Amino acid sequence: MPSDAHARPGIDLARLIDRLPKVELHVHLEGTLEPELAFRLAARNGVALPVGSVNEMRAAYDFADLQSFLDIYYAACSVLVTREDFRELTRAYMARAHADRVRHVEPFFDPQTHTDRGIAIGDIVVGILDGLADGERDYGITSGLILSFLRHLPAEAAEATLSAAEPWLDRIVAVGLDSSEVGFPPEPFAGVFARARALGLRAVAHAGEEGEAALVARTLDCLGVSRIDHGVRAADDPAVMRRLADSGITVTACPLSNLRLRVIPSMERSTIRTLMEAGVAVTINSDDPAYFGGYIGDNYRRIAAALSLTAGDLRRVAANAINGSFATAGRKRELLAELEVAAAGTA
Ligand code: ADE
Ligand code: ZN
Repeated sequence: MPSDAHARPGIDLARLIDRLPKVELHVHLEGTLEPELAFRLAARNGVALPVGSVNEMRAAYDFADLQSFLDIYYAACSVLVTREDFRELTRAYMARAHADRVRHVEPFFDPQTHTDRGIAIGDIVVGILDGLADGERDYGITSGLILSFLRHLPAEAAEATLSAAEPWLDRIVAVGLDSSEVGFPPEPFAGVFARARALGLRAVAHAGEEGEAALVARTLDCLGVSRIDHGVRAADDPAVMRRLADSGITVTACPLSNLRLRVIPSMERSTIRTLMEAGVAVTINSDDPAYFGGYIGDNYRRIAAALSLTAGDLRRVAANAINGSFATAGRKRELLAELEVAAAGTA
């Protein structure tokens, strides 16, 4: 497992990071399932887990690559059974996000991980929406839910999932595409993404995590996305970076995820600075925080220290997240005003 000894930002920068109003654009709700909650839900639902304790579960989080993580992540989802389970999962994330001053979030959920086990899509969606509403009521965190398709399953399954979700599409802001990247290209999903966009949804997709920069370009070519999730390998190709910068596509980077899934050998080797210097609208996010050792604040702190980011860099990242979100124009104005106050040091 990568060492926990790491650089910390200076005290002023750490204070700024605490104060920044954060917008999280890349977090999988299933990836916020902490072992304690997994054990509680397993007991409640009579589901057996492959490990005997919370400590054993955490000790298993030593990943060789994306697939070795996904295998554990999908297996743990078996404890999520009822509408109330999805609500509790979401509410727990919202409470943790509030502690990091998250003010708006656009989380992913993977319906197919659950419907393929016989869970009704309505229970998944309504449970999550209830949890998001709890978070808005208790903490003022606004949200936009993203329905993500699993790319290791056929495009026809994504089509069926979109159809099954139709009763709730007015409460879903976008579709996404995740799971194993290498060997599962974006092109087969062009049809379902076009249908989702015709239904009024926005589109985002994972690309350039383990896959090469060309996959980022191909994703832009075929899916009509406004954001690229991860996108860090775009830094391998200046033309792809230029295309991202020129088209104003937001890149939702997840530094701790990249480290823990061995996309990068050390935080210092993150490509986030290269992307920023190329004019790409980079944001900092947590991906699957229960598995990767940190939530969004930890991601800000670790990357700021490793890349010696300045206050100006961090302010730009926070503004990129507000501007790249699917929040209303009015909500974006409020968040930008909060950012001004935080950056001036009076918040
Ligand atoms: N699903 C959850 N986390 C993911 C990641 N980092 N990449 C692809 N799919 C995912
Ligand atoms: Zn992700």
